Amino acid sequence: MPTINNNFLKLKAGYLFPEIGRRVAEFIKANPDAAEKIIKLGIGDVTEPLPEACIVAMHKAVDEQSQHESFHGYGPEQGYPFLCEAIAEHDYLSRGCDISADEIFISDGSKCDCAGILDILGHDNTIAVTDPVYPVYVDTNVMIGNTGEADDAGRYGKLIYIPVTAENNFTPEIPATKVDVIYLCYPNNPTGSVASKETLTKWVAYAKQHGSLILYDAAYEAFIADPDIPHSIYEIEDAREVAIEFRSFSKNAGFTGTRCAFTVIPKGLSGTAADGSMVELHGLWGRRQSTKFNGVSYIIQRGAEAVYTEAGQQQTAGLVSFYMENARIIREGLTRAGMAVYGGTNAPYVWIKTPDNQTSWEFFDTLLNDTHIVGTPGSGFGASGEGYFRLSAFNSRENVEDAMQRIGSVLAV
Ligand code: MLT
Repeated sequence: MPTINNNFLKLKAGYLFPEIGRRVAEFIKANPDAAEKIIKLGIGDVTEPLPEACIVAMHKAVDEQSQHESFHGYGPEQGYPFLCEAIAEHDYLSRGCDISADEIFISDGSKCDCAGILDILGHDNTIAVTDPVYPVYVDTNVMIGNTGEADDAGRYGKLIYIPVTAENNFTPEIPATKVDVIYLCYPNNPTGSVASKETLTKWVAYAKQHGSLILYDAAYEAFIADPDIPHSIYEIEDAREVAIEFRSFSKNAGFTGTRCAFTVIPKGLSGTAADGSMVELHGLWGRRQSTKFNGVSYIIQRGAEAVYTEAGQQQTAGLVSFYMENARIIREGLTRAGMAVYGGTNAPYVWIKTPDNQTSWEFFDTLLNDTHIVGTPGSGFGASGEGYFRLSAFNSRENVEDAMQRIGSVLAV
């Protein structure tokens, strides 16, 4: 028998969303009549069809694959230049960020990249996460052996947790001591909070002072409505010396089932080798990707490129405003029901304090039993998420309105 990676045995629970699915399936088994009434506002999965511009581009690319002259086999490992160039121009140069096409790596998802990036970092780094946090950052560090065991609250040894709660306005305090790697996610999953230019400037200054690396997850940047909030960490001066950025087409263009994302690793951004020399992360990631990944299909990359056409920009803006109108309906519905509500104005997630001091999982059960609505328990995102709950704005208008109506009539305090 082979031995196993024992780090997996340190994981406290199943991955959050399958765990929710398991509990919902159990509920349906016990209450079969409730099955068709269930409304899922748990996982942030899109519901609206892909933008027409992407569909047209992908159909055309499929046809190209049918002819010798236009057929594509393996693509460039870093991604097709047509897509990297469109991203550099529209997402970075247009915002004054000094990022070039060859610093962009196309992938099939930010989750995979957030996990994979640990391959190129050492195991002796001090790693900080906000708490609550997107569980992938923590679990992947557990799996690779970067943490100790979990305590009763679910906090893993060796990781530094920076609480983000209503008490500190969901703004993580800059650590007093040196951390080597810090994960930041803005707009934030799960709290729906955003980071101002001033806040990000402080983080970049901290990272420069301590030689830290910021892993910046900007998967939800398209949902920012406030013109003063940065969409990219590279809008902050010197950020290219300290930060890697993860971006995705999943939420803005509805690619959760289509799969396309990208990671930006600026040239010059370096880590230290065992012999003390400086090594560029860009080259290491290129080497890692060319060994472990064969790229995103030509057809999908053509679809993603179409996001940047005039029609694609209009259609993705339409999708974003559709979900943000859902977020408004959720915010207002919950506020009317007497709950303390956060987020949901620059992010597709609404974060609430559970009523009557219920734990997050108690409120999950209350909501499921009394209204047949599925949300995500805040404690699933970390110990400081206990007593909070997340609702996602990704659903049909009809379901969102129905959900708020049910909450208003059943749970209003
Ligand atoms: C979420 O619900 O937090 C998201 O679906 C996570 C993800 O995109 O992986």
